[in-house]
Amino acid sequence: MESAQTLQRPQVDVPATDFDPYADEVLDDPYPHYEMLRELGPVFYLSRYNAYGIARHAEIDAVLRDPVTFCSSAGVGLANFHMEEPWRKPSIILEADPPMHGRTRKVVAGLLAPASINKLRPTFERQAELLVERILDKGSFDAVTDLCEAYPLKVFADAVGIPAEGREKYLLPYGDMVFNAFGPVNERFKACLAKAQDGAIAWIAEVCRRENLTPDGFGAQLYKAADEGLLAPEEAPMLVRTLLSAGLDTTVFTLCNAILSFSRHPEQWAHVHANPALARQALEEVLRYESTFHSFYRTTTREVEVAGVPMANEQKVCVFIGSANRDPRRWGESADKFDVTRRASGNLAFGTGIHGCAGQMIARLEGEIVLTALAKRVRNIRLEGKPVIHYNNSVRGYTSMPVSVSAD
Ligand code: HEM
Repeated sequence: MESAQTLQRPQVDVPATDFDPYADEVLDDPYPHYEMLRELGPVFYLSRYNAYGIARHAEIDAVLRDPVTFCSSAGVGLANFHMEEPWRKPSIILEADPPMHGRTRKVVAGLLAPASINKLRPTFERQAELLVERILDKGSFDAVTDLCEAYPLKVFADAVGIPAEGREKYLLPYGDMVFNAFGPVNERFKACLAKAQDGAIAWIAEVCRRENLTPDGFGAQLYKAADEGLLAPEEAPMLVRTLLSAGLDTTVFTLCNAILSFSRHPEQWAHVHANPALARQALEEVLRYESTFHSFYRTTTREVEVAGVPMANEQKVCVFIGSANRDPRRWGESADKFDVTRRASGNLAFGTGIHGCAGQMIARLEGEIVLTALAKRVRNIRLEGKPVIHYNNSVRGYTSMPVSVSAD
């Protein structure tokens, strides 16, 4: 079988670059690189990876809204599942096309609809208030472990209904591996896979079993959907696994990006502190300004032209949503400014189209509640040392972030 890497560079006039989106120095600060990519043109060719790239908002939006031409079933990472053996069984929602996608998406979307999410609000608020009191007592702490990880590991994992024991050790490494898999098979992915094989994969399989789930959580509800014939019996644990892999690292990193952005822009925190009702809008700006997800792929299902560039069938196309969210063509001259008064809706942090994040409402709820609880109690958020970046092939967050907080 021919691998995606052995396909020839397309014989068309398209700007080429040997830019490596996965290099440490790019992940340290991707934004100047994104500007360079956007200036190359609406479409460019990533010669290292034999893939097209798109870094402008309008073209990414159009690609994500055309799942018939730009499919997900060949994988949303660099590997083309039509030509390479997938590293694991593909996701039955994220890596599925219509009509299969519509069936599983309907079940997951029903589960995560506002009616059920809103029921979680009181518990989520209580947990956020407790955590904020705890960090205020400490004064100085590690924002990653003590806040950004601690919160979703408690509230989201409880909402899914998995046992408490093992969460800290296994959940985040599992997600780390899944998100690394959206890039190339580099040392970063290999190390992460080896780590996950040492316990996390087996642990996840175990906690997704029906008998290990609480009776009323999202996990149990997926099994009920299977009882009702909406899913095949073997699909229920697969979707519980999807919730756990998609829903932890992403919210943890979003909280990290929020704390870091506010510690670097105290004048913006002053707005939110003065008016905690701004929390939801501020979170949206965090998602735009410091995208959690940076890039993923689609695969062409036919010959197609994007912004005048002809693409053959079976081409991988990398969409840099982290760049779209800073594209001055969409956000104006102030695209690189962190501004919580901005209307940041229309950002692509959750993707868009039929695969737009199914968990975005609960992710937004978690973020809004944490920022509100902080805004009500914390006047100052200060960075007390250099944050340590967590290198991953598709999501961007931190491993540690020394911070101090003070109340009024
Ligand atoms: C701030 C946190 C989050 C971010 C930034 C995020 C980002 C994304 C993005 C960009 C996609 C689209 C991928 C694509 O188009 O190929 C996506 C899909 C998805 N996300 Fe999230 N996500 C977050 C939280 C969550 C949570 C909490 C859950 C679970 C409750 C979740 C579940 C999913 C699922 C199931 C999909 C696949 C949807 C589909 O293919 O129809 N995500 N997410």
